[in-house]
Amino acid sequence: MREVVVPAFAKLNLSLLVLGRRGDGYHELRTVFQTIGLADRLTMRHHPGGALRITLDDPLAIPGNLVLKAAHAVAEEANLGGTWEIRLDKRIPMGGGMGGGSTDAAAVLLAMPALAGRAVPMAVLEKLALSLGSDVPFFLHGGAALGLGRGEELYPLGTPAGGYVLLVTPGIHVSTPEAFRALARPSVSELTFTDPVPTLETFRALAATLAATRPGYGWQQYCQNDFEGPVFLRHPELAALRRKLERAGAGPARMSGSGSTLFGVFPTRGKLREARESLGGAPVVETQFMSRARYRAAWRRALAEVVRTTQWPPQNPYASNASSNRRSRPSRSTIR
Ligand code: C5P
Repeated sequence: MREVVVPAFAKLNLSLLVLGRRGDGYHELRTVFQTIGLADRLTMRHHPGGALRITLDDPLAIPGNLVLKAAHAVAEEANLGGTWEIRLDKRIPMGGGMGGGSTDAAAVLLAMPALAGRAVPMAVLEKLALSLGSDVPFFLHGGAALGLGRGEELYPLGTPAGGYVLLVTPGIHVSTPEAFRALARPSVSELTFTDPVPTLETFRALAATLAATRPGYGWQQYCQNDFEGPVFLRHPELAALRRKLERAGAGPARMSGSGSTLFGVFPTRGKLREARESLGGAPVVETQFMSRARYRAAWRRALAEVVRTTQWPPQNPYASNASSNRRSRPSRSTIR
């Protein structure tokens, strides 16, 4: 029997634009993801031998839990057998726009092959991840990334220094499909050249700032979230909390995903603590941005007992091949 305890880190959308409805029923996004230190924990035990059997101990009995779906998907893909016992300890608020279900699914995709001593190429994991949810591929990589398409076309960005984060989790559940519907976006084919230019220009400035060699200068002013309009209209108390964060000196103070988590970013822990005092009794969590290097280090630590570091994280052929290959096929496959 082998056992690992792995982290499943949450994300924030530092910025999130929804451009239009696509033919496949999803929306075309422009987002910047950033992982943070807040994490669920998955304890995974594998008893090799015999036919595949997967059980999930989920004290919250989350309906439609993606953990089991991910486990069956990767077991089938990698032809994994034996008995798997998974326990999920939830810390990321559910329905809060921080990708809690998606990160749990990605954690399962990363951990199960490692535990079974089987290498599954990243490109294959990415395909499985997208079949589970639009945000899942991002969590295979972590750190900061530009997300296009449904959010699965990923380009690595730098994580700004500092990044002390105060999360306000008011416990309001926002349905993601409903939030998309409330935006009432036109079909992408109806978008004109001029419509989204001012917001896209702001978004471009954010991406350029975070793609710089030393990311960070002035990035805060470019963060936006299209969901804030309709979600705040329905829940005005969220708008009030965001204003409080802003008045307390957060830069930026925004909602993550389709809500309802609000986040404020501060340059120092001291400034964050002062802000926390001024928020009164709202439920808050203190955390910090987690860069891709720290994300990967946390995963390596968690899996150190079961994999040699050269085996993990799984590499794309494009990432490990000669530079000529990389030149001919740049972009998302090379995210590292
Ligand atoms: O991909 P995921 O299962 O997380 O998406 C949940 C729902 O959110 C989708 O069924 C869809 O209604 C909406 N969605 C969307 N466009 C995206 C991502 C999600 O319309 N890019």
